[in-house]
Amino acid sequence: MAINDTKISREELGGQFTFPGTSMAVRRVGYGAMQLAGPGVFGPPRDRATALAVLREAVDRGVDHIDTSDFYGPHVVNQLIREALHPYPDDLVIVTKVGCIRGADGSWPPAYSREELTQQVHDNLRNLGLDQLHIVNLRVRDDMGPIEAPLSVLANFQQQGLIRHIGLSGVTSPQIEQGRAMVPIVCVQNHYNVAHRGDDAIIHDLSSQGIAYVPFFPLGGFDPVQSSTLNDAAARLGATPMQVAQAWLLHRSPNILLISGTSSIDHLRENIAVGEIELVPEVLAELDGIAEQTAPRKPAERKE
Ligand SMILES: NC(=O)c1ccc[n+]([C@@H]2O[C@H](COP(=O)([O-])OP(=O)(O)OC[C@H]3O[C@@H](n4cnc5c(N)ncnc54)[C@H](OP(=O)(O)O)[C@@H]3O)[C@@H](O)[C@H]2O)c1
Repeated sequence: MAINDTKISREELGGQFTFPGTSMAVRRVGYGAMQLAGPGVFGPPRDRATALAVLREAVDRGVDHIDTSDFYGPHVVNQLIREALHPYPDDLVIVTKVGCIRGADGSWPPAYSREELTQQVHDNLRNLGLDQLHIVNLRVRDDMGPIEAPLSVLANFQQQGLIRHIGLSGVTSPQIEQGRAMVPIVCVQNHYNVAHRGDDAIIHDLSSQGIAYVPFFPLGGFDPVQSSTLNDAAARLGATPMQVAQAWLLHRSPNILLISGTSSIDHLRENIAVGEIELVPEVLAELDGIAEQTAPRKPAERKE
């Protein structure tokens, strides 16, 4: 498969994406709220006022897609979103996820039983202050196998009107196919960035189906992407390496949506500006080589 095989216009780079089968359109540059919780994504933020200001700044600057979960904190991040932004603008899409709870020690045990998922859906509704969750991703554990049982619980909530649309996270191709056979899947959220390219084929397949691909750890997450190629390209473009890493994702495929996470207003502003960065084919070719130069990451680095 050719990389960057779909020509994306400048307008589309910072433009909009409509989730398939819905009237929900979002800008391709959104915001991931996980970094707003305390250290280890556990407990309150060190600087609550700045956390609230980051959320308000994001929406003021046109962000209409926020990624969250009630297990960030836990509860803390959703409560911050509600305090900062409720009543929500009509066009704001809040995407949350279920399938995990937090241990008292900050651990992330999976939680997929009907009772646990019911609790999580109601926690999200209450803490976000919503009557209906906009999109809920079922967060799947790498070794989980079939996803029918937990997904049928979410499908039931969709029929009841508590969930508008369903997505998947942390999934393999077979799990995506299982999911699509059961319910319309509007988005997939997996680990992907310029140095971690295991999902190239999945992105291509989802793009042909019009399904959004929303990379988590788009900047490398807890282990930020480092590359001299990225640094060199950034210096030539007058951008930062993290901006170029995000611009590369926007060029990579038209179904990629950004939810880069930050607790800093300056970084938020930098990230929102990446829709303006155009990468010529020569630079894209250099950046396409980064994954081969970078040692593969261990699965244990996924802390969320
Ligand atoms: N589905 C899943 O399993 C899953 C897993 C992980 C994450 N997620 C979602 O994905 C979103 C994004 O992932 P993430 O926040 O973990 O990782 P990320 O976006 O790859 O990276 C966040 C890190 O990059 C830094 N950063 C952000 N913008 C920057 C900039 N312009 N320049 C320099 N550093 C910058 C942040 O620090 P500062 O705060 O200092 O800016 C933070 O340390 C999360 O918010 C969450 O919603 C989902």
